[in-house]
Amino acid sequence: CGIVGIIGRQPVSYRLVDALKRLEYRGYDSAGVATITGGALQRRRAEGKLVNLETRLKEEPLSGTIGIGHTRWATHGAPTERNAHPHFTDGVAVVHNGIIENFAELKDELAAAGAEFQTDTDTEVIGYLLAKHRREGMNRREAMHAMLKRLRGAYALAILFVDDPSTIMTARNGPPLAIGHGDGEMFLGSDAIALAPFTNEITYLADGDWAVVGRTGAQIFDFDAHPVERPRQTSIAVAYLANKGNHRHFMEKEIYEQPEVTAHALGHYIDFTQNRVDTVSGIDFARIPSLAIAACGTAYLAGLIGKYWFERYARLPVEIDVASEFRYREIPLSPRSAALFISQSGETADTLASLRYCKGLGLKTGAVVNVGDSTIAREADAVFPILAGPEIGVASTKAFTCQLAVLAALAVGAARARGTLSEDEVQALVKSLAEMPRLMGQVLNSIQAEIELLARELSKSHDVLYLGRGTSFPLAMEGALKLKEISYIHAEGYAAGELKHGPIALIDENTPVIVIAPHDRFFDKTVSNMQEVAARGGRIILITDEQGAAASKLDASHTIVLPAVDEIIAPMIFSLPIQLLAYNTAVFMGTDVDQPRNLAKSVTVE
Ligand code: G6P
Repeated sequence: CGIVGIIGRQPVSYRLVDALKRLEYRGYDSAGVATITGGALQRRRAEGKLVNLETRLKEEPLSGTIGIGHTRWATHGAPTERNAHPHFTDGVAVVHNGIIENFAELKDELAAAGAEFQTDTDTEVIGYLLAKHRREGMNRREAMHAMLKRLRGAYALAILFVDDPSTIMTARNGPPLAIGHGDGEMFLGSDAIALAPFTNEITYLADGDWAVVGRTGAQIFDFDAHPVERPRQTSIAVAYLANKGNHRHFMEKEIYEQPEVTAHALGHYIDFTQNRVDTVSGIDFARIPSLAIAACGTAYLAGLIGKYWFERYARLPVEIDVASEFRYREIPLSPRSAALFISQSGETADTLASLRYCKGLGLKTGAVVNVGDSTIAREADAVFPILAGPEIGVASTKAFTCQLAVLAALAVGAARARGTLSEDEVQALVKSLAEMPRLMGQVLNSIQAEIELLARELSKSHDVLYLGRGTSFPLAMEGALKLKEISYIHAEGYAAGELKHGPIALIDENTPVIVIAPHDRFFDKTVSNMQEVAARGGRIILITDEQGAAASKLDASHTIVLPAVDEIIAPMIFSLPIQLLAYNTAVFMGTDVDQPRNLAKSVTVE
């Protein structure tokens, strides 16, 4: 899931591991580094976390001033040391992110010509192809170009040839790759954060590019091997050094950052002094007949809440789906429409493919992204930054509430542009949004102790149900997603009205039911659904507000009471107990909160 490379003046193995550490947040399950030393390729690899690789390097140090490194999130083949990258084949070392879709075909062809594969990975075919082309008499560049022509699928590659100890070859089609320019040294990384301790001078490869990186510079070629120039830019990631502050985990730090970062996000779209939404450029909300939204995971759930807002306030029909379905569903979309793509990383493969699909159909595209120089941001017609700052915890928290803040501002802006709300109604919504960061701070300061007690209880459960109506329905799904991601407790989020159509069969005294019910238009109906749970002996945890707590006659086994807030900001405010509940439960369970098993932060494969 992460690639690094260094062509240095000093030994590189420990610096490679340092750079890999800065990519840890993306998620991985094995790691390895390779160098050229004493005229030979050498490598160290280990299953599991980078500390295991560090231990291997202490036991058996690795010299060499040129090297590549990799953290692997298994796609083909188990996360064992044998399958860990770098892979060696006849003097070629390869690390790879992505999936080679035609690997089976290539493997058969190479095996028929005598290749003996040592791993279960799709990556190994790359080394064999290169070695074969070299045997056929091609030089390194020719071999690289010929090899790339055979690959189908997504890849970011870094390659060492034993007969050239001063060059790394690299290629990109899909997952991002940044070349870092140093002082007599050159670097390679999956993102600028990996390279931040070494340099802030970055050149991003474009899709289809490949490059020959030497100690003093890089030559970049397009897919047809014509030399191309790519801009050199100064990255802001260098200022950022991953630091948890006083918090136990990045996730906790990021939860507590929300009052500040959502204020930044809102401030970008709203003029608080005038209580008005700034006109957003890029998408002409007044004229489009409908809006499409595609995203994955937590970003998709933010989009679902956005759908409620765009439809209710701006009377704009919204077609939304998870990006992996969206891109293949052949949805009838009007070229006069616009489409939004929501992504923290801006690199999620399915979301990017959905963006390209919509561009191909002629729709105007907008990227709601956190990483400003990401591929999705660069390819969209308009960029709507969420300004959450780097999010390191794999389970998204502050990016989610910032996505919501931006979607709310865009929906209110669209309502204004379309004239579907009066100026007074717009002002009232903007005023509510302006109050949100302060209210978030208030909630975070008041519920921690109570949540810890509840989390202790929750950590004993096997299954948890989350229920909500209206915008609290997607939030129920987000609550369930958060809990299962980091505590590994099975959880489901349901529309409260659907309870009777299935999940009610699961209710017994051992299944906590978390009901998200601000005192809104749906409150009475949600309370009726709670009664149905209570009548069957279910254990209810009610998350409501002061008005709801006063109105509900029901004896929930526990009620978390938040301040009463306007309907438009309730999803952001109610996110906080949901996130803290998942976080504290995971802490009790002793799981790896910031890097839960099997999950990746940035999913650059389909
Ligand atoms: C992964 C992450 C999730 C994230 C999703 C979409 O599954 O673990 O936290 O919501 O990808 O990522 P994106 O970067 O596109 O928001």
